Amino acid sequence: MEVKKLEINGFRNLNNFSINFGDKKNLIFGVNGSGKTSVIEALFLLGFGKSFLPVNKKELVNFNASGFFVKAEILNKSGENTLTARLEKSFYMQANSEKAVFSQTSHYLYPLFFSSSNYNYYIDYMAYFRKLMDRFIHGVHSLYLHDVLRYNNILKQKNYLLKNLGKSINHSELNSWNTVLAESGCKIVKKRMAFINQLNDMIGEIFRFDLKINYFPALLTTAALSENSIFNDLCLIKNSEINRKRSLLGPQRDRFDIMVSGKKVQLFSSGEKKKYLMMIFAAYIDLFRKERNDYPVFLIDDYDAAMDENNLNFLMDHFSKIQIIATSVAKNEKFGHLFELKKEN
Ligand SMILES: Nc1ncnc2c1ncn2[C@@H]1O[C@H](COP(=O)(O)OP(=O)(O)OP(=O)(O)O)[C@@H](O)[C@H]1O
Ligand SMILES: [Mg+2]
Repeated sequence: MEVKKLEINGFRNLNNFSINFGDKKNLIFGVNGSGKTSVIEALFLLGFGKSFLPVNKKELVNFNASGFFVKAEILNKSGENTLTARLEKSFYMQANSEKAVFSQTSHYLYPLFFSSSNYNYYIDYMAYFRKLMDRFIHGVHSLYLHDVLRYNNILKQKNYLLKNLGKSINHSELNSWNTVLAESGCKIVKKRMAFINQLNDMIGEIFRFDLKINYFPALLTTAALSENSIFNDLCLIKNSEINRKRSLLGPQRDRFDIMVSGKKVQLFSSGEKKKYLMMIFAAYIDLFRKERNDYPVFLIDDYDAAMDENNLNFLMDHFSKIQIIATSVAKNEKFGHLFELKKEN
């Protein structure tokens, strides 16, 4: 898939903004505060219905505007399509002028986002990596994020109950939340397990290098995983959860360890960590291609932050087939299409 044209109005510092991208390597360069990350954020919004930053949608509206409008023309294997995201009285998205939810828009545009200056979050904060894996899985199983949202909604209600239990514990209500959590959680854990296996196989196939992700579901046992086994785990932990007033098991606490030659990736230098993460992204791109017979659009913010020439060449060579939309403060002629953003945009 490929973004041919992007139009933005009233979004962050971008007003009456329009850009025609090339089909391969695009670089948006400009001084700090010119709006580079905002362009990437607008593309991410079209794919996922939200920002990659923890902000309320209203905060994305330009200080002097009452709403925003983002529109992209996309070419993918189903032809040319238009996606729009608007915030007027409320937020809504459209695919070819029909209202759409994010599981439909990511069918047309799947933005694969890598922040080259904040990549260490994926390594240092498990919640970030878990979200990244969830977005990856969503790219190849379009209903997966609905499962995750459903699970999170149920979990919220269970946690509410645990906080408010006080002296009169409603065991039957807790049991019924655990029943639906077990059913919904089982789907998530099974999909995560299968996906991590596929991703590890792809890493091995492409790089023939000892890099793998170990997945540890936050359950008492995963030997014979089923809705029943998860429900039994939740029963075993029930008293501790009541005492601690919160949920202690389930996909929201799953762990993923990135291992390089048997060592945790945390032990490597920041440039090495970036390269290993890039390898994971590269393997994902090939997996995406295998599953969807298409490529995602690769968004790389501050692509050259802390990257030496070798890593940069790796990036350029390895991602030669897909559309890249990268940003940097510096111009680089290695990109076929260069766009300069000025501060007043
Ligand atoms: N809602 C908003 N309305 C208007 N301007 C905003 C809004 N939100 C953020 N900005 C401003 O938009 C500008 C562009 O921010 P952005 O993060 O896109 O810049 P950038 O080009 O990526 O900069 P850097 O090189 O520092 O990463 C900043 O000056 C920021 O303060
Ligand atoms: Mg930026």
